[in-house]
Amino acid sequence: MGASDRLAVAAARPRHAAPCAATVLGEPLPASDDHGLVHPSADFAAQALVSSPQQYLEMYQRSIDDPAGFWSEIAETFYWKQKWSPEEVCNENLDVTKGPIKIEWFKGGKTNICHNAVDRYVEAGDGAKIAMYWEGNEPDQDGKLTYSELLDKVCQLANYLKSVGVEKGDAVVIYLPMLMELPIAMLACARIGAVHSVVFAGFSADAIAQRITDCKPKVVITCNAVKRGQKLIPLKDIVDASLVESAKNGVTVGICLTYENQLAMKKEDTQWIAGRDVWWQDVVPNFPTRCDVEWVDAEDPLFLLYTSGSTGKPKVQGVLHTTGGYMVYAATTFKHAFDYKPTDIYWCTADCGWITGHSYVTYGPLLNGATVLVYEGAPNYPDPGRCWDIVDKYGVTIFYTAPTLIRSLMRDGSVYVDRYSRKSLRVLGSVGEPINPTAWRWFYNVVGDSRCPISDTWWQTETGGFMITPLPGAWPQKPGSATFPFFGVQPVIVDEKGREMTGECSGYLCIKNSWPGAFRTLYGDKDRYETTYFKPFSGYYFSGDGCRRDKDGYHWLTGRVDDVINVSGHRIGTAEVESALVSHPKCAEAAVVGIDHEVKGQGIYAFVTLVDGVPYSDDLRKSLIMAVRSQIGAFAAPDKIHWAPGLPKTRSGKIMRRILRKIASRQLDELGDTSTLADPGVVDQLISLSDS
Ligand code: PRX
Repeated sequence: MGASDRLAVAAARPRHAAPCAATVLGEPLPASDDHGLVHPSADFAAQALVSSPQQYLEMYQRSIDDPAGFWSEIAETFYWKQKWSPEEVCNENLDVTKGPIKIEWFKGGKTNICHNAVDRYVEAGDGAKIAMYWEGNEPDQDGKLTYSELLDKVCQLANYLKSVGVEKGDAVVIYLPMLMELPIAMLACARIGAVHSVVFAGFSADAIAQRITDCKPKVVITCNAVKRGQKLIPLKDIVDASLVESAKNGVTVGICLTYENQLAMKKEDTQWIAGRDVWWQDVVPNFPTRCDVEWVDAEDPLFLLYTSGSTGKPKVQGVLHTTGGYMVYAATTFKHAFDYKPTDIYWCTADCGWITGHSYVTYGPLLNGATVLVYEGAPNYPDPGRCWDIVDKYGVTIFYTAPTLIRSLMRDGSVYVDRYSRKSLRVLGSVGEPINPTAWRWFYNVVGDSRCPISDTWWQTETGGFMITPLPGAWPQKPGSATFPFFGVQPVIVDEKGREMTGECSGYLCIKNSWPGAFRTLYGDKDRYETTYFKPFSGYYFSGDGCRRDKDGYHWLTGRVDDVINVSGHRIGTAEVESALVSHPKCAEAAVVGIDHEVKGQGIYAFVTLVDGVPYSDDLRKSLIMAVRSQIGAFAAPDKIHWAPGLPKTRSGKIMRRILRKIASRQLDELGDTSTLADPGVVDQLISLSDS
């Protein structure tokens, strides 16, 4: 039975068991049939773009039966300088046994994503519409840009970049906080066909250097500093250190374009290297506000985004997205998963340094002509009511965030939420990790006043856009389930042998086909691309996640099944943390596992073996944590360092992480068989040192 058949079963079943059109319109199902379903209200469903399971199913079925026709019709609503060849809407091979992996969409088409996200709306007469609101760290700091003003600013920066020799295909690294200049910089690169690589402004100098060394940018764009809450972060100093580091690796960057973030730091307090460093404000505003776009091929690269891999290699991998398919997919998923309407004020709390900020702060919303809110500060500053203060201030209608923030605000208490009206809200969204039903219900009942559907969107850096997500007017929801696949996506759940399972089942989540937003390769590492994602289960894209499908066809993501840890929705490879730990001169060996964490979802637990004769001390613990902070960033700092005189290894020397996970989570009666260990005694030793 294929994916669409299973869904058809799920939709047909409602008449007997679960959802049906009548329930979507608000009529309650008989109590015995209602398995904790939360229905969109009749009002919501009546105005929704997709307002019933039947409508969804018809669209979904069409997207599977005729992907070329389905996606072509949508793609035609964008501007293309030259249309794609009709017979090449999608070329794909996802089966390594049949040759190299290939994914191409809209081949032969020429377009520009910046044109479609900005110029298109100005040309259509919507130039006066607000494209972006900006809220600063302090509640009295704000700003805004209309679509016309955004176009002017993007063009000026694009002209500057061209003037210093940035050309189509060149990489530009962007290390900026959530100022409007960050999406402006992304769009300026896209406008001239340059490939942006945004590095989250919480990464350390070493981490930036690793990325610069890999993609060799002509220019790095940063700002002098940012204030997050009460903390001042000197971003330019961090970039300076990274440029010293990358120069040691043979990559010298000629220009560091620096925005003066006057609210955080004055020019005169900023370290400066004459000849290399350039103040944004000194040069960019002098350039013309018109800049012809570079028409690029649908398959020309748009951006590189580095993320943690799952192959046990400490090196991060550059996920490469191309232009045409990504554009169509980011825009379409945004529109449907949030039931977007032109009057919406949309706020996504993610940082543009992650994929969520790429697809759902910058590209997806602007491609729909939406008004986006960009927030620079911390969500709980100056107090845990800040998010709702912002919602009321701007009349936010769609609020998209991560379970970790929901849990942290939930812990602070509903009192901070109740102080604000939040009546503008109509759709909520969640991303980054599984949302536990308790957090889901709090989000739904307290934040959304039991009025706003929640789109729990499952996707990844690699997928470019939503893969499994509720369409908020279409289906009743089950708290904690990402529900059903987006149009054109065929999720399959396979067992360890790669056999597709049907009906109610649990296993490895794969995708059977390609979709327009799929990443095309890992930059400079096609082998790793194929090995990680396409070789584990021949013929499928392997997500690295576990998933359960229930009897009604709803999907429940169960977390990573590989060696990637998800801390507060941030993806961190265990191998990266281990490599940072063993770089410490007193650390001989390290093994890192994830543990459950009440707020962060997962925490980092590190078993550390010290060099012979070195005594464990609290200072040493701190300096080991510091090693991780400086090689990756503060967000990757281990929550716990566990002194390990020895690690549980098989006779062939492989560390048995299964046992370490059990020790870390104190599930000592579930250690399983330890007899195959080279030295079973280490297990007792580790348990006895658990509280050290
Ligand atoms: O484990 C899944 C989890 O986040 C991983 C992807 O991380 P990243 O590439 O950094 O992208 C995060 C934002 C899309 C996935 O493999 N994940 C993401 N969204 C969800 C999720 N897990 C469960 N439910 C989600 N809604």
